[in-house]
Amino acid sequence: MADEIPSQRHLFDLPREVAYLNCAYMSPLLHAAVEAGEAGVRRKARPWELTPAHFFDEAETARALFARLMGADPEGVALVPSASYGLAVAAKNIPVRAGGRILTLKDQFPSNVYVWREKAKAAGAEVVALDVEGRDATEAVLEAIDERTALAALPHVLWTTGARVDLVAVGARLRAVRAALALDLTQSAGAMVADFGAIQPDFAVAASYKWLLGPYSTGFLYVAPHRREGRPLEETWIGRAGSENFAGLVDYQDGYQPGARRFDMGERANFALLPALIVALEQLLAWEPARIEATLHTRTLEIAERARGLGLSPTPDPLRGPHYLSIALPPDAPGDLPARLAAEGVHVSQRGRSLRVTPHLWNDAEDVERLIAALGRMI
Ligand SMILES: Cc1ncc(COP(=O)(O)O)c(C=O)c1O
Repeated sequence: MADEIPSQRHLFDLPREVAYLNCAYMSPLLHAAVEAGEAGVRRKARPWELTPAHFFDEAETARALFARLMGADPEGVALVPSASYGLAVAAKNIPVRAGGRILTLKDQFPSNVYVWREKAKAAGAEVVALDVEGRDATEAVLEAIDERTALAALPHVLWTTGARVDLVAVGARLRAVRAALALDLTQSAGAMVADFGAIQPDFAVAASYKWLLGPYSTGFLYVAPHRREGRPLEETWIGRAGSENFAGLVDYQDGYQPGARRFDMGERANFALLPALIVALEQLLAWEPARIEATLHTRTLEIAERARGLGLSPTPDPLRGPHYLSIALPPDAPGDLPARLAAEGVHVSQRGRSLRVTPHLWNDAEDVERLIAALGRMI
């Protein structure tokens, strides 16, 4: 087992009275990322210092860092502004026949639902939402895959409860029926090790502002080798062959930049945000994904144990993601529990009738004590 990482609270702007256990909502930026972002914003105050290289170099650095973090090929990574953008690219490029089925989970995040509903409507296909409440989500998905399946559009963990899907097993079963796999890894990338070589997704997107510790409006789309000749959402000038030569841009080109670069969003060279994103990815790599996962697993196991001591029922491990804890609330729990907890400086989310507790490396034992003490008083 990977050795664990001590609390990294000093790297973040977290006052002692704040117990922030809500990474699934939004992570705080590292101090170093804030500094890089401030310097990044300031660069456009002096546009004469921004050279053509600035349109390429940091995008390439971010692409390569995300690829290293996910064990993926950097040529297969595109820069996108959101999960919904990346999933729109996936929907544009995965053919679905009339009568085909698109598998999702019930209560899945809408960025990975609406796009498939529209696709199904246009193709005469059907979206099937699998109810995984109280059961093994992997089993439910494996059972549902058959020759009618056109694709599965899934997360690694369900954003409400943290229910975990074994993507390696699901990927293998999908390939056996020649169905595609589109992933939304926004609630797992950066916190859970994922082996793209073994999963073999067709497309996998992650917004950066949660477990990747990045700024809002940044994200990544991984594109499988056999999908890299597909159609982008936008026909960007920078995605075309030879775009490095600014003087020759009206020498219009039919060809694209190599790899998945054609799928990059317009204005992907974000001078303000990319420096902050790069700092965050470098920090995640320095901590090492396996060690992050092991540390967050230990932390959530500890919180689950303490919650059981209060008579509460957390989602059992390992049916949940290692970093993601959901605690079923008793019927008489106050309806405004998250607001009451926040008033005491304890920050978590409520999804349905469950409390979602998602710690990260900035947390420490005192945060856990404060959560448990406050829950003990309020429930
Ligand atoms: C699973 C999941 N996907 C995506 C997002 C964000 O979507 P988008 O980047 O499309 O705004 C969230 C935000 O909560 C999420 O939980």
